[in-house]
Amino acid sequence: MPDLSINFAGIKSPNPFWLASAPPTNSGYQVMKAFDAGWGGAVWKTLGVPVVNVSSRYGGVNYRDKRLIGFNNIELISDRPLADNLREIYEVKKRFPAHAVIASLMVGSRQEWHEIIRAAEDAGADGLELNFGCPHGMCERGMGSAVGQEPKVLQTIVEWVMEVATTPVIVKLTPNITDITEPAMAARRAGANAISLINTIQSIVGVDLDQYSPYPIVDGQGTNGGYCGPAVKPIALNMLKNCAQHPHIKLPISGIGGIENWRDAVEHILLGASSVQVCTAAMHFGFGIIREMVSGLEQYMVEKGFNRIDDFVGKALPNVKPWNELNLKYQVKASINPDKCIGCQLCYTACEDGAHQAIRLQAGTRTPAIIEENCVGCNLCSLVCPVDECITMLRTDEGTQHLTWNERTAAHNIPTEFNDERAGGRHHWVPEPLAALGKERHKTLPGKARALAVSKQ
Ligand SMILES: Cc1cc2nc3c(=O)[nH]c(=O)nc-3n(C[C@H](O)[C@H](O)[C@H](O)COP(=O)(O)O)c2cc1C
Ligand code: SF4
Ligand code: SF4
Repeated sequence: MPDLSINFAGIKSPNPFWLASAPPTNSGYQVMKAFDAGWGGAVWKTLGVPVVNVSSRYGGVNYRDKRLIGFNNIELISDRPLADNLREIYEVKKRFPAHAVIASLMVGSRQEWHEIIRAAEDAGADGLELNFGCPHGMCERGMGSAVGQEPKVLQTIVEWVMEVATTPVIVKLTPNITDITEPAMAARRAGANAISLINTIQSIVGVDLDQYSPYPIVDGQGTNGGYCGPAVKPIALNMLKNCAQHPHIKLPISGIGGIENWRDAVEHILLGASSVQVCTAAMHFGFGIIREMVSGLEQYMVEKGFNRIDDFVGKALPNVKPWNELNLKYQVKASINPDKCIGCQLCYTACEDGAHQAIRLQAGTRTPAIIEENCVGCNLCSLVCPVDECITMLRTDEGTQHLTWNERTAAHNIPTEFNDERAGGRHHWVPEPLAALGKERHKTLPGKARALAVSKQ
């Protein structure tokens, strides 16, 4: 069996799955229950200055039959007494010495930082996570994302922290910024041992049409909150990649955002995360999801021949390129498998109205046909087709040529004028505009396709 244990910037954990700092890590009761279920670590609900929470706190985005594809909260940091949290951290560490307990912290002054760090480390925390990400409530008080958005301030605070910290320090970054590598670099300059990302994304998940208030509604009113859950994974992965590929950041990264199953976790690891953190999925489905996560990850590692997590941290990074380094000679075209097609014709509608008019209907069957010469290989039809592997994208170039925009630029062979012959779409067929209004659209189809359409009549 592969070894799932990790050593993340000096923090040891039996597996890479940590609960993120949030309601599931609000108490010793929950963290012990989670460790018992199989979680490798927990970042405690953020400890810090005293707060008062509002009662209605969460909002959700449901999509069709799926609940909470996006989740939003206007909750603050822990509202429990610091002494209770510290005592429970101590108890958890005593019972689970091999598991990772990380204290998430957020305070204001240098003295407060020094005091709370000493207290958390005395309680037995294996590491510290600095919460510079909370996008509501705390930033108005000059903390949370207000720090994460100001690299210079962040650097100063991390320097204060490094003056006293004796355990590894993870800086948790906010996604509410144009370039997340800037605060990451500031953390590095200040001597942080690792970074984690992302915290929640500033958001309004919806507006009540009768009360004229954003959700969640607090006595007829609302405020912007922090967005997370499956919907944010693409944003998290991109920011993770930006930090992991950065030539000077070079810090271990804990990946957070939209992780719900082992596949999501592997994606984060392949893009450079060496531990992963989960919040929304644990809030939605409970701690039991860890069983599938651990067994799925083990199975994946066996299949790929990976013995340790480090064997595949960042393995996808060499394949993430800037656009102008992609091969312009690569060509795919859609292909429909008539045996799988259920005749819904969603592909036809999508290509006809939203892409390149490269799918036609055929008389006598509900299975559409691809007009190969029009297909630019955009993938849209294969993405809307409800049947797995019914539309596949087949490679049609010979695979022998490789030419990038950069190479064309170097060879002075890029289109430079508005009507340049060398521009990409210049020779693509498009119907005459007026054909949109006529019933005899096939008359505008190019040669072979038109002959086919007419012959079916
Ligand atoms: C209700 C709620 C409370 C949260 N509280 C904190 C917190 O106290 N400290 C913190 O660093 N992050 C907090 N977060 C952010 C999560 O730790 C995590 O960064 C974010 O939810 C993205 O992960 P996910 O997509 O798995 O939920 C909170 C998130 C939620 C939903
Ligand atoms: S979307 Fe898929 S199933 Fe529906 S008609 Fe097109 S190929 Fe057939
Ligand atoms: S890949 Fe794009 S252009 Fe080609 S048939 Fe599908 S939707 Fe149309």
